[in-house]
Amino acid sequence: MSTSAEKPATPDETACVSVPLGKRSYDVIIGGDLLEIAGRHIAPHLRKKRVGIVTDETVAKLHLETLQASLRSENIEFETFILPAGESTKDLQHYSDLMNRLLEARIGRDECLVAFGGGVIGDLTGFAASTLRRGIDFIQIPTTLLSQVDSSVGGKTGINTSYGKNLIGAFYQPKLVLADVSLLDTLPRRDILAGYAEVLKYGLLGDFDFYNWLETNGLSVIDGDTASRIYAVKASVQAKADIVVKDEFESGVRAHLNLGHTFGHALEAEVGYGGDLVHGEGVALGMLMAMELSAQMGLITSQDSQRVRSHYSQVGLLQALPIIKKIKWEAETLLRHMYQDKKVDQGKLTFILMKAIGNAFTTQDVTTENVLRILDQFIPESAKG
Ligand SMILES: NC(=O)c1ccc[n+]([C@@H]2O[C@H](COP(=O)([O-])OP(=O)(O)OC[C@H]3O[C@@H](n4cnc5c(N)ncnc54)[C@H](O)[C@@H]3O)[C@@H](O)[C@H]2O)c1
Ligand SMILES: [Zn+2]
Repeated sequence: MSTSAEKPATPDETACVSVPLGKRSYDVIIGGDLLEIAGRHIAPHLRKKRVGIVTDETVAKLHLETLQASLRSENIEFETFILPAGESTKDLQHYSDLMNRLLEARIGRDECLVAFGGGVIGDLTGFAASTLRRGIDFIQIPTTLLSQVDSSVGGKTGINTSYGKNLIGAFYQPKLVLADVSLLDTLPRRDILAGYAEVLKYGLLGDFDFYNWLETNGLSVIDGDTASRIYAVKASVQAKADIVVKDEFESGVRAHLNLGHTFGHALEAEVGYGGDLVHGEGVALGMLMAMELSAQMGLITSQDSQRVRSHYSQVGLLQALPIIKKIKWEAETLLRHMYQDKKVDQGKLTFILMKAIGNAFTTQDVTTENVLRILDQFIPESAKG
């Protein structure tokens, strides 16, 4: 994908990215102020004019009324299921509670779930949709930057377990994704930055032009410029769609989307999926670790890795493991978490490394010593175990 020649959208422009997957194809509609007209976009996809909205307490307080009003204006009936906010909601207990509530409300085979929230709500709702009555339709209305650029597209759904992240789940594509960038105006800066890490991921793994665009425009994306946000979401979704279409079930190139995630998931597992380190922060750190590992192995130049570090400084992404009261970071413990992750194949860890900015590849050819050295480098002295 070449992005540099394209102009950013005007603030009121709506973009559409198609995800062509045969019978499972769908559109991702991206724009500002879309929630007010969500009903109009949703209606054509419904077999029956009744949906189950699944959301979290924070999103419900801020935006539920607008969604409900737009459904009412299209005569779409709804039941609403509100869950606690945060990563710990994406677990077996909340999944089981949600399934019971959906059955109690008689959400039927020909009805549809609407995942209205961030990646936590999207992953959980998608998995619930994939298993309720052996699978019912679902629509994503992602409300965080991370979920708009990543988790709402591509059909990975699932929940975390005490053995690791996303270990129970299904590939299950939505019928429609509505990404309203105006919803990001209420998102705390910390979550904007976490989502930005996944935006940057697309540049780093496969699109040098987009990386360049981000060096110039990344701060506008973070600071809330609507046109820049629409453009960044569109370019990210297009990059993800291009990869998903080549490899829907992750037997090859889709693994590149896990850049930073082998490290990142280990950090998340150690912290325990609370608010102390959110997914995108783990990814930001993980990408930097993958890049430093690539540099130490002589795969990428130190100029490239310095350049990316400067961009991290420019936009304010984490560059060292944060000091968290209850955590004493230890490289060996983090390595053990990595072996619990699902990216372990016959006892070998799989890493996505970089040959250059915009050129990632998959390898198992990494020594434990190298990984431990990198992990150790990222632990501040005062936080060592
Ligand atoms: N399925 C995939 O392909 C995929 C890809 C990337 C990440 N993920 C998953 O996504 C999850 C992280 O997603 P996330 O970062 O969106 O987390 P999240 O869903 O927990 O949202 C972050 C916080 O923002 C709040 N929030 C949401 N929208 C808001 C808004 N508009 N205004 C104010 N607050 C708002 C939420 O209540 C929550 O507290 C992780 O579980 C990760 O594993 C999945
Ligand atoms: Zn991610």
